[in-house]
Amino acid sequence: MENILVTGCAGFIGSNFVRMMLNKYPEYRITNLDKLTYAGNLNNTKDFAENKNYTFVKGDICDKELVERVARGKGVFINFAAETHVDRSIIEAGVFARTDVIGTQTLLEAATRNDSLFFQISTDEVYGSTLGESFTEESPLNPSSPYSASKAGADLLVKAYEKTYGLKTLITRSSNNYGPFQHPEKLIPRFITNLLQGKKVPVYGDGLNVRDWLFVEDNCEGIDTVLHKGKPGQIYNIGGDCEKTNLYVTKKILQLLAKGEESIEYVEDRKGHDRRYSLSSERLHKLGWKPKTDFDEDLKLTVEWYVKNEWWWKPLV
Ligand SMILES: NC(=O)c1ccc[n+]([C@@H]2O[C@H](COP(=O)([O-])OP(=O)(O)OC[C@H]3O[C@@H](n4cnc5c(N)ncnc54)[C@H](O)[C@@H]3O)[C@@H](O)[C@H]2O)c1
Repeated sequence: MENILVTGCAGFIGSNFVRMMLNKYPEYRITNLDKLTYAGNLNNTKDFAENKNYTFVKGDICDKELVERVARGKGVFINFAAETHVDRSIIEAGVFARTDVIGTQTLLEAATRNDSLFFQISTDEVYGSTLGESFTEESPLNPSSPYSASKAGADLLVKAYEKTYGLKTLITRSSNNYGPFQHPEKLIPRFITNLLQGKKVPVYGDGLNVRDWLFVEDNCEGIDTVLHKGKPGQIYNIGGDCEKTNLYVTKKILQLLAKGEESIEYVEDRKGHDRRYSLSSERLHKLGWKPKTDFDEDLKLTVEWYVKNEWWWKPLV
């Protein structure tokens, strides 16, 4: 367990996860393999970069030779590395298929050779949209965007490596995360940083699409719970139990930054825009995890973080 390869940790969730793990388990050694795409940022890992138990390797998860080399001696792989922005996937799907599908397959091959545990970080978007019941882990995959289709493809490959080669696997599918270090292209940080720059916030369609918001620290705790208590071969949903329309979230951010609704600009809806994501996380609740945090409080904390950390986001907008 203690020698872990974690990919994509210069990104949002991965960097939050490694920070938590290094604090919580001082005996674990963590190697971060990250290509440093536009979404990868060494400022995200700056505060723990010198930790003696942390090693950074710059590289691509599709690079078979490099992956084989970095993988040696690692008992666990946790794969956060991915192209993650739905809007970009609609414009340029190829890089999503490459990284999210081929990259995962490359890692699976190395994990199989090493006899490691393979933990795939997936998303609720693989289930598509629901106006009725919340999705369980048994719900069919019905992705809508090239991003979610690529993530669904990766999940299927993980299950195939388990069935074909006996690889031990875990998958988590979390809902929409928010919190410090999220790239300002994503909804909450984009709206905060737009308002801080005196710009309007672009709301898709009627603004009534629903997302289940999960504070990033809760997701990291959920991943840790699955890593230590999860049953190999299982999939675990990680939902925030916090369904909100985009308009609700937008108005909360406006309030926190003392802006009026004239700052909202309604724009043409995203192609194939899922109306509502909704997860049942009963399986993970049974392992003792529940989201701890409160949306209003954590949104406030997130807004304050962006207000204080202009040095971090200014170069990215
Ligand atoms: N952000 C969310 O709300 C959310 C929700 C559910 C699931 N997820 C999943 O969690 C994971 C992390 O998401 P995030 O929001 O932190 O992403 P992010 O876009 O902030 O970071 C992705 C990281 O992966 C790296 N990367 C990209 N392509 C790579 C490649 N070919 N080789 C090596 N590294 C590469 C990037 O440099 C970056 O550091 C992803 O797998 C995503 O699908 C995210």
